[in-house]
Amino acid sequence: MPKLEGMKIFSGTGNPTLSTEIAEQLGVNLGSLRISRFSDGETYVKFDETVRGVDAFIIQPTCPPVDQNLVELLIQIDALKRASADRITTVIPYYGYARQEKKDAPREPITAKLVADILTTAGANRVVTIDLHADAIQGFFNIPVDHLTAIGMFCKYFKDKSLDDIVIVSPDEGRVKKVREVVARLNAPLAVGYKHHPEHQVTKVTHLAGDVRGKIPIIIEDIISTGGSIMECVDALLDQGCKPEIYIGATHGVFTGEAYERLNRPEIKEVVVTNTIPLDRDRASDKFKVLSVAPLLAEAIRRVHENESMNSLFR
Ligand code: R5P
Repeated sequence: MPKLEGMKIFSGTGNPTLSTEIAEQLGVNLGSLRISRFSDGETYVKFDETVRGVDAFIIQPTCPPVDQNLVELLIQIDALKRASADRITTVIPYYGYARQEKKDAPREPITAKLVADILTTAGANRVVTIDLHADAIQGFFNIPVDHLTAIGMFCKYFKDKSLDDIVIVSPDEGRVKKVREVVARLNAPLAVGYKHHPEHQVTKVTHLAGDVRGKIPIIIEDIISTGGSIMECVDALLDQGCKPEIYIGATHGVFTGEAYERLNRPEIKEVVVTNTIPLDRDRASDKFKVLSVAPLLAEAIRRVHENESMNSLFR
């Protein structure tokens, strides 16, 4: 076990279970801090131990409640900076606001860039994150971004299942490059959905390229929110004669609205997500499986602290 001297890890309220798991992996205790709300809803943060000169890590996904988690993270960074932490690394397993990473219509914002700017202005020195909605978001920061991926974990999970006659499915053209890694590692054919958004928050998969007839599809996604995109993709796959035995692997299970219930349809065999965002176990059926990113993030934190190469973690 490395000594990890001079390092402290703190958790926001976004996903304390994951933070605890990461700390356990590293063999350290989480640092002590208080996070509470003023009567008007404003956030109060106080670190209960010295952070002077330490290599500080804050673990906080900006998942729902998105704005609250984001503001809490900013306030933690500010408090660490003012208390003379030597370096502040924000570990953001799920980077919210990433889906507005370009203007799709006039007079729209680019929130992925705005969030990058405010994190940096608050005092973040480095970001560690997993499966950003778009790789280009790394370039929105002028500080180092370690962009990890859970794709390897999904490959291993599905490979271990030894499913016969599978087809790997990218629900849209944008994800094909990432999904090709799964195709290569599982030595399976590829199918691609053609997705568009006829209006705000409405998704349509108009057609599917690739032969899926009689095959078991494995859909690889980055985010599931309402489940709308997945439902469209599942319908298109069934229309084209796939086996009614569909697997889904998505890094970030945001699961808003009725997503848990929508995904619980009989043709869907498993919904595999990671724990970048906490799962609502009361609503998730047994079909929902969770892979832990704690070992990956713990190793990334250790290497950042020890100034070791991260290269092998990016694959
Ligand atoms: C969008 O391009 C993403 O990759 C996801 O497909 C999308 O954000 C999922 O959202 P929902 O589940 O609401 O369709």
